[in-house]
Amino acid sequence: MQHPSRVLRALLLAACAALAGLGVSAQTAPASTSGIQSANIFEVKPEASADPGYATQTNAERGKVQPGNNAPMWRQVGAGATGFSSLPKSEAPEAGNLIQPFVQYPGSSYTNAGEAWRQVRNNWLIPYGGSLLLIVMLSLAFVYFAKGPMKTTLPATGRKIERFTPFERAAHWSNAIAFVALGVSGVVMAYGKFFLLPIMGATLFGWLTYALKNLHNFAGPLFAVSMVVVFVTFLKDNWPEKGDLQWVLKGGGMLGGHAPATNRFNPGSKAIFWGGVFFLGLIIIASGFVMDKIVPGLIYERGTMQIAHMVHAVTSVLMLAMFLAHAYLGSVGMDGAYEGMRHGYVDEAWAKEHHEYWYDDIKSGKIPAQRSALPATSSPITPSQPV
Ligand code: HEM
Repeated sequence: MQHPSRVLRALLLAACAALAGLGVSAQTAPASTSGIQSANIFEVKPEASADPGYATQTNAERGKVQPGNNAPMWRQVGAGATGFSSLPKSEAPEAGNLIQPFVQYPGSSYTNAGEAWRQVRNNWLIPYGGSLLLIVMLSLAFVYFAKGPMKTTLPATGRKIERFTPFERAAHWSNAIAFVALGVSGVVMAYGKFFLLPIMGATLFGWLTYALKNLHNFAGPLFAVSMVVVFVTFLKDNWPEKGDLQWVLKGGGMLGGHAPATNRFNPGSKAIFWGGVFFLGLIIIASGFVMDKIVPGLIYERGTMQIAHMVHAVTSVLMLAMFLAHAYLGSVGMDGAYEGMRHGYVDEAWAKEHHEYWYDDIKSGKIPAQRSALPATSSPITPSQPV
C-alpha cells in the first residue's frame, strides 16, 4: 500500500494536468489548445438573436455562433419536450420530462401546465371560491339575525312521530361528521394561509396543515362509503311527488303565505339530495380518489392531478355552500329539525306544519308512526287525534 502523502501528491499532479488541458490556469491560457477555440459567449457579434431562425436553432447550430451556449436545449425543456429516460413508463410515466408541455386550462393563459394550474388556482378557485363561501355564511347569519329560526306555529301536542330510525341517523351523522372533517381541513388547506397563518405563525400552521391534510386523506374514503349508505337510505323519499311543483312555484313559502304542503322531504331537501349528495358527491369522491391514487388502471401524471384538483376544488366549494345552508336549516335555522335527526322523533304539530302530506300518510296508517323496533318497555305511538 502506498503512503497517503504520495497518493495525495499524485492526485494533485493529475488535477493540475487536467486543469491545464482545459485551459484553466492561473497563467494566461494559450489561444489554442489542441484545436479548440475559446470564446466569451457574452461577446458575440452580431447578436445571436439577429440570426434568422434564432428561436428554432438546435444546440449544434447555436454552438457554431455561440460555442457552449445550450439555450436551445433549455428552451425545449421549457416548452415541455420529453427527453430520454431509462426508467420504465409504468413506474415513472413522466421521467425524462422536467417541465410539462403548454396547455390552456379554463381561466389560464397558454403556458406550461404547472403554471396554468397555478393561475387557475390562485386567480379563480381561491378568490371566487372563498368569496362564495363568505357570501353564503354572511347571508345565513343575516337571515338568522333578521328573521330568526323558522318556528312551528301549531301548538305542540306532545305526541311524537319517528322521523328517522337509528340506522338512518347513524348513516346521516357518520356522513355529516366525515363531511365536517373534510370541510374544515379542506378550508384550512386552501384558505388557512389568509386567516390562520398570520395568527399562529408558520411553524404551528405548517404542523396543523400537515395534520389536517392527513385527516382529509383518511376522512375522504369514510365520507365516500357513508355517502353511498346515505344515498341508498334516503333515495326512496327523494323522488318528485305531488305538491313539489307547487312548493317550488311558491318559493317554499318564502314568497309570502304559508309553505305549501310536502311529503316527507320538501323539494329544497330533494335538490340538496340530488344536486349535493348525488351529483357533486359523486364528482368530489371520484376526483378525490384520483388524487389519493386509488383508482386502478389510471396513469398518474402531473396533468391528471392538476385536472382532478381543479374539479375537486370547484365541486367541493359548491358542495360546502350547499351544505352550509343545509346545516343551518338542520341546526339553528329551523326549530325542531335538529331534534328529529338527533333523537329520531318530531312532534305531530311539526310534522303537520312542515310535511303535511307525510303527516297525512301517517295518520291514515299508510306509513307507520314508529318504524324502528321499540325497547320492550315502550308502547307504540299512534297519532290518532288531529292536531
Ligand atoms: C353538520 C352538518 C349537518 C347537519 C347539522 C345536518 C342536519 C340534518 C337534519 C336536522 C336533517 C333532518 C331534516 C328533516 O327533518 O327534514 C338532515 C337531513 C338530511 N341530511 Fe343532513 N346535516 C348535516 C350534514 C349533512 C351532510 C354532509 C349530508 C350529506 C352529504 C347530509 C345529508 C342529509 C340527507 C340526505 C338528509 C335527509 C333529507 C333528504 O334526503 O332530503 N347532511 N340533516
